[in-house]
Amino acid sequence: MQIIRTIKDMRAFHKILRTGNKSTGFVPTMGALHEGHLSLVRRSKEENGITVVSIFVNPTQFGPGEDFNRYPRDTVGDLEKLSALDVDAVFMPEDGEMYPETPPAVSIDVGGIGRILCGVSRPGHFNGVATVVAKLFNIVMPDRAYFGQKDLQQTVVIKKLVKELNFDVDIIICPVVREKDGLAMSSRNSYLNPEERKAATVLFRTLKLGEKLILNKGMDNTMDVKRKMEEMIRSEPLADPDYIEIVDPRNLQAMQDIRLPAALCIAARIGNTRLIDNIIIDKK
Ligand code: PAJ
Repeated sequence: MQIIRTIKDMRAFHKILRTGNKSTGFVPTMGALHEGHLSLVRRSKEENGITVVSIFVNPTQFGPGEDFNRYPRDTVGDLEKLSALDVDAVFMPEDGEMYPETPPAVSIDVGGIGRILCGVSRPGHFNGVATVVAKLFNIVMPDRAYFGQKDLQQTVVIKKLVKELNFDVDIIICPVVREKDGLAMSSRNSYLNPEERKAATVLFRTLKLGEKLILNKGMDNTMDVKRKMEEMIRSEPLADPDYIEIVDPRNLQAMQDIRLPAALCIAARIGNTRLIDNIIIDKK
């Protein structure tokens, strides 16, 4: 497994490997890798001759007062996990390699899609994500790139980025990997103390309630379902909901009457930790 720290070396790497006519799968991450990340890596390994993973805690997607400085970093553990999966290369640049100028002179504005849902409490976040992913695509030049449905809004933003800026990359979305009790795996789960960790299961329980109301009880009014879901999340004293929304998973548009497919999306603070989760429900 090659560990690559510069853009120049990354380009040299794929120039050599490309000669074999193998496809390249790419998994961008911010490290502190868990089974959610590794599921994307495994999928890329299955579908491509070469798999490249990036580890870069991208400063431009964190707002002032967010957790950039304390975001978990575990380079040794990450490299062990990736080496066990036989990844071909790990691209792990320094901040200055990715952003020679701060703030960057050029960045991508994803427009309205970046201002709804998580964009309300994290203004600029999706512009930072789109900018770094565009840069990484230009550096790694993958045929396919793998993203988790866990960050549903991110997947919609990336698909829009690829379509509008004509990147020749197939975007593959992989299912949410969960702990046994349903909590979606996230690097940020490590911030939770034992009491908060227990409380955090309320996100998935709330999503499952919404699913049951729609699929089993036949409820089709968004406000009614959201009200019940909000009651459930507020019943957990450590949870402070940021939003509960029911949207079309393809474009994240809100729906008044529920039509399938529908994405139930939730964001909440558990103590000081902001967590997100979603499920997509579709016709059986
Ligand atoms: P990060 O949070 O490290 O996540 C990297 C990838 O892993 C994302 O596509 C994310 O959706 C996926 N992922 C995280 N938890 C998952 C889970 N429980 N199940 C399935 N997939 C999961 O997302 C980012 O980094 C950054 O925004 C990035 C795209 C790297 C740009 O900086």
